[in-house]
Amino acid sequence: MKLSAAVLSLFAAASWAAPTSSPRRFSVMALRSASPIHFATVSATKNQLVLNLPGDKVDSQCADGETHTAATLYIKDGELFLYGPDDQVQQFFVDRSGMGQGVVQYFNRTENNVPGGRLELKGWAVDENDNLNFDGNSLLACPSQTDSSWTVWLALGIDRPGGNEGCLGFTARTLTSQDPVPCTYSSH
Ligand SMILES: *[C@@H]1O[C@H](CO)[C@@H](O)[C@H](O)[C@H]1NC(C)=O
Repeated sequence: MKLSAAVLSLFAAASWAAPTSSPRRFSVMALRSASPIHFATVSATKNQLVLNLPGDKVDSQCADGETHTAATLYIKDGELFLYGPDDQVQQFFVDRSGMGQGVVQYFNRTENNVPGGRLELKGWAVDENDNLNFDGNSLLACPSQTDSSWTVWLALGIDRPGGNEGCLGFTARTLTSQDPVPCTYSSH
């Protein structure tokens, strides 16, 4: 009896200690040759993904107290998340309807805060070339009117998503984060 209890608790300890496979964490770099967004870093601020965010507008709060321009992301079960502290879940939805026109936004996910209707969570994937897409839709960036940044949308073949002019499709190349730091990203 004693022995089997000991064996059981050993077993429990071993399975507890076994590394749980955490999803690949990555940052994203935009590729669009001969454009202002070629090699741009994807940041997250005010519920959106943006390229070329000016340094003084990087406002994520990171566990190491440092400034991290690149957003750290991961995919779990086809859903896209920002890598953050354990008690904070920030997740993305997209809206491919005529209303949303491909808008991509993150929100604070809680038990009681799960969007539905037009807002889709599942469909994110990284393809064989390491590029991020949503259900086969690649990404698009639209220049801000006020600074050098570009806001990220899904590329749905809409000329001016949300009325934005001068948008450019880009390849969203994922780069594995070797030493990811959890961050909380800002809301509107
Ligand atoms: C999301 O969570 C962060 C960190 O707790 C908080 O600062 C922010 O106000 C929250 N956003 C919303 C929209 O509730």
